[in-house]
Amino acid sequence: MLTQTFHFAVLKDYQKVFTAQGKTLVEVLQFRADNMNPIDILPYIKRCTLDIICETAMGCSISCQTGGNDGYVNSVKRLSELVWLYEKTPLYWISPIWYLSGKGFEFDKHVRSTTEFTRRVIENQRTEISRKSSSATTENPDQPKKRQAFLDFLINCQELSDEDIREEVDTFMFEGHDTTSSGITFAIWFLGQHPEYQRRVQDELDDIFGDDFERHPDSEDLQRMKFLEQCIKETLRITPPVPFISRKLSEDVKIPHPTKADVILPAGMSIILNIVSIMKDSRFFERPWEFYPEHFDPERVTSREAFAYVPFSAGPRNCIGQKFALLEEKTVLSWIFRYFSVTSLTRFPDEFPIPELILKPVNGTKVILRNRRKL
Ligand code: HEM
Repeated sequence: MLTQTFHFAVLKDYQKVFTAQGKTLVEVLQFRADNMNPIDILPYIKRCTLDIICETAMGCSISCQTGGNDGYVNSVKRLSELVWLYEKTPLYWISPIWYLSGKGFEFDKHVRSTTEFTRRVIENQRTEISRKSSSATTENPDQPKKRQAFLDFLINCQELSDEDIREEVDTFMFEGHDTTSSGITFAIWFLGQHPEYQRRVQDELDDIFGDDFERHPDSEDLQRMKFLEQCIKETLRITPPVPFISRKLSEDVKIPHPTKADVILPAGMSIILNIVSIMKDSRFFERPWEFYPEHFDPERVTSREAFAYVPFSAGPRNCIGQKFALLEEKTVLSWIFRYFSVTSLTRFPDEFPIPELILKPVNGTKVILRNRRKL
């Protein structure tokens, strides 16, 4: 049912949102550039991806890049922190301790505030749809067609209740912004550590846009950003935003052992697949612990075992938003490297990313930005 919402034609429509929000991001950042004070880039990127997902998933704008909707933004941030804290602290699994610590109440408060926000948007959207259907005959055909948001598709599915819809939209809200903000931030961080690769990205962008800093990228431009795409994929290999996935085995799984007897994992067992490590296998990546975008040169990709690279998981429950994510990352990063040169103040692996709910830079990502155009 949901796959149609990621159809190529729909993504093309979402592309306009990625572009507009990417432009807002560089406009906000350019006033932080050209001085020697480093900035932590992650919160800026996060607000950008949150604006993008609100508009594409719910069809409403929260303008958090320009200071709007602080309450929702803080609740989303705090929920991610609290879920992770809960997961890694077995003591908190005892309900009275979770609540006596105050964390339980705080968690419930933020869940209420985010779900109420989504409910309100669904309600408004339903009212809008019924208003339109009752005034359909008086509608102006010359008016531009409104972009379909993910929520509109769900509302049109008769078999879903409002609460079903709310759950799906909330899943998308979380899956769809925390992951891409880490992906974009890590890519900026790596390119800020490797001026030679950053130069290649900027040469590619300059070939496409010349010195026009205003032109919005279209799908043809994005297809030409081949080296930038290699850098994005290499970043997702070293620091995949979703570092582990888990499964409950539906049948016995045999793991062959090179010297001892095979290991059998029995059906019913819960397992964790460590995708961070899978993608550091030197049999498939010649420089597993280095940022080396050449790993994604076309001839290397075609000769590689497909399951060696799984930042979006694989199989029937893989990431439904992967094309959306790559397109979004490419668009936002193209704006960043058209506008700025970046220097990272910390290096991988001295500064090691940590898994929260999503893999994050441990101490934020401190960078210095220099404007590439004269203001
Ligand atoms: C760089 C960005 C992203 C990464 C690395 C990523 C990674 C993943 C991974 C590894 C899974 C599979 C989990 C599993 O196998 O158990 C997954 C599932 C999912 N992702 Fe993404 N994701 C990204 C962006 C997005 C975006 C932008 C959206 C939505 C707009 C999204 C929506 C989802 C949903 C709904 C699922 C669950 C699919 C299902 O259960 O069938 N993701 N993602």
